[in-house]
Amino acid sequence: MEQIVLDHVVKEYIVAKKKKGMLGALVNLFHSEKIRVEAVKDISCTIEKGEIVGYIGPNGAGKSTTIKMMSGIMHPTSGSILVNGLSPQKNRKEVVKNLGVVFGQRTQLYWDLRLGETFELLKRIYRLPEEQYQRTLEELRNVLGLDQFMDIPVRQLSLGQRMRGELAAAMLHEPGILFLDEPTIGLDIDAKQAIRDFILEMNRKKKTTVILTSHDLDDVMKLCTRLIVINKGVIVEDGPIDEIVSRMATYRMLILEVAEPVQEVSCDQVEVMKIEGRKIWCKFDHHAHTAAEVIHALGEEMKIVDLSVREPDVEDAISNIYHS
Ligand SMILES: Nc1ncnc2c1ncn2[C@@H]1O[C@H](COP(=O)(O)OP(=O)(O)OP(=O)(O)O)[C@@H](O)[C@H]1O
Ligand SMILES: [Mg+2]
Repeated sequence: MEQIVLDHVVKEYIVAKKKKGMLGALVNLFHSEKIRVEAVKDISCTIEKGEIVGYIGPNGAGKSTTIKMMSGIMHPTSGSILVNGLSPQKNRKEVVKNLGVVFGQRTQLYWDLRLGETFELLKRIYRLPEEQYQRTLEELRNVLGLDQFMDIPVRQLSLGQRMRGELAAAMLHEPGILFLDEPTIGLDIDAKQAIRDFILEMNRKKKTTVILTSHDLDDVMKLCTRLIVINKGVIVEDGPIDEIVSRMATYRMLILEVAEPVQEVSCDQVEVMKIEGRKIWCKFDHHAHTAAEVIHALGEEMKIVDLSVREPDVEDAISNIYHS
């Protein structure tokens, strides 16, 4: 079932172009020049119920802007968005009932309330029946390990503790869709893992649809089956993650240790990245040559004592896309 549909969505920001210096500041007071920033240029895509989609791209690509439009916080300049068949702009209340949103960069919790009080408040805001609230809260407390933090004011929580609280707050009303904009930013390994486990658990148990933005490609690899890559406001890749990675990362790395130090490598099947004494890092196009061919060719030239071949990873693929 199509759950989210974006059709030629465009978002322009109008920003004041500031003139520099004292005189400039004075001029700005009277007539500031306006310029347009096309944050999202033309985005169309469909997301199905139960998918976990990695929405990734370099800084400034337009990811957060898209998420803000999908969650109804911002209006697109043109184009249309449907979430469960409704417009998040025109039917904000209806849409929000089925939406959980977390912005890793910005808290949505109440700074001075204890975490437990925050949840109580959200219960009233969402008008959740007591029984449903207790059941969901219990579950979230367990999955996110919130018990020790319930009586602590939000402002005293560490970043990782707070982020667990943010996720619980976003899921308290059991939304079918979760938008996560950098939910693991600044977190340590354990906190990241807890959040990843939580996302997978929600998706498995409740078929929660998840759109995840992250610069941590580990998050993306561990959670998502589909990637949408955006660059400069347009989608440059959309498909199964494995497919994108294997298509984009055509190279494999070969790391060799040789018996005698070498200055250069003449084998034309490889591109040398780095030589340090008896260690050589090179890469080869694995669509053109097999690893065995390359190793054989290199073996003619030098005595190899140890080697390892590194598979293309998502990082190689992504950096290829960002730079193409
Ligand atoms: N409120 C705003 N007013 C004006 N311009 C904005 C505003 N918010 C974002 N922009 C601009 O729109 C573009 C896209 O920003 P956006 O925050 O969507 O990027 P992003 O993909 O989320 O990047 P990041 O990975 O850094 O979070 C950027 O050029 C940014 O400067
Ligand atoms: Mg962003």
